[in-house]
Amino acid sequence: MSTFEPLVFSGVQPTGNLHLGNYLGAVRRWVALQENNNCIYCVVDQHAITQAVSVWGGPAELQRNTREVTAAFLAAGIDAEKHIVFNQSRVRQHAELAWVFNCIARMGWLNRMTQFKDKAGKDRENASVGLFAYPNLMAADILVYRATHVPVGEDQKQHLELTRDIAQKFNTDFSDRIAELGLGIETQSGDETIQSFFPLTEPVIGGPAARVMSLRDGTKKMSKSDPSDLSRINLTDDEDTISKKIRKAKTDSEPLPSDIEGLNDRPEADNLVGIYAALTDTDKAGVIRDFGGQQFSVFKPALADLAVAKLAPIASEMRRLSADTAYIDSVLKNGGERAAILAEKTMRNVRDIVGFLQD
Ligand code: AMP
Ligand code: TRP
Repeated sequence: MSTFEPLVFSGVQPTGNLHLGNYLGAVRRWVALQENNNCIYCVVDQHAITQAVSVWGGPAELQRNTREVTAAFLAAGIDAEKHIVFNQSRVRQHAELAWVFNCIARMGWLNRMTQFKDKAGKDRENASVGLFAYPNLMAADILVYRATHVPVGEDQKQHLELTRDIAQKFNTDFSDRIAELGLGIETQSGDETIQSFFPLTEPVIGGPAARVMSLRDGTKKMSKSDPSDLSRINLTDDEDTISKKIRKAKTDSEPLPSDIEGLNDRPEADNLVGIYAALTDTDKAGVIRDFGGQQFSVFKPALADLAVAKLAPIASEMRRLSADTAYIDSVLKNGGERAAILAEKTMRNVRDIVGFLQD
């Protein structure tokens, strides 16, 4: 019995600075997954243009950000030779499959997406069609490689559920055709064994930093779009800035609790403990064992030193790599060529399954 080859896929948008949330929630975990998996990591530039030009900054900014995010991947330890790193728009098959998925996904499914509601805000009539259809393109990014595992932060969970719904509906809508062409892979669906063309992708979400919160408000996600730069640590921040932002992080006036239950209802304390845990590869309980009962005047300087030790070398490597545009562009070109071969293999099958004539 054949099964889907394990394959990891993930992406980050080139919109503004990468921050600690992107690093701990996503990129750092991608680095760990490289050990035992084949991985494809993508700078999703087509997703970056779904909002107004004034939001994403225009062509020169998009090019700069695409290179900068690529530099961040490499500086964080992603191996672009063993694995694949590229920018989405180079591989036309993503957009091609997204069209098919536009015709598979239902309006009702997309109407439920909370990220669309957040990003479109009150003036939904004026949001782009691309912003609404964005999750279909995300599903295509993943499924054009028939990827089985997707490491992301918690905010992407709903999009990954939609990706599974799309895969499932494609598999059932075309089940006869998939069987006729011999393109099915045996998969378990409850008690039944069915023939599927697309895998039901597993989200890889978790750890103490699946949702890093703003340093100014522990109930809000750390985000690129927060107007306050003090709310986030950017991967490009220098040592003094990292230390200053942690020293100024909002906290309450109690010492750290002596057990993790004591972090409930203390979002700012919980967030800083989670960041410490992620940066040291432990869990929140381990941090509480070391710092339980201590004042923030002790914990914050320890966290600041740790963050500087872990992040400053990445920032300096990013600066070095970002200056070498020719090198970054060659990485993306090479990755794009390798990705396109895999994506075209899937698309040839998809065209046959759907009934599009091709040579
Ligand atoms: P984006 O910047 O929206 O393209 O997100 C890139 C990756 O970072 C995705 O996997 C997100 O889930 C993850 N991410 C973004 N913000 C956070 C956060 N505050 N905490 C944890 N993960 C995050
Ligand atoms: N939607 C993701 C985000 O905003 C980025 C993304 C696009 C992605 N395509 C993807 C993530 C495919 C994982 C897999 O963070």
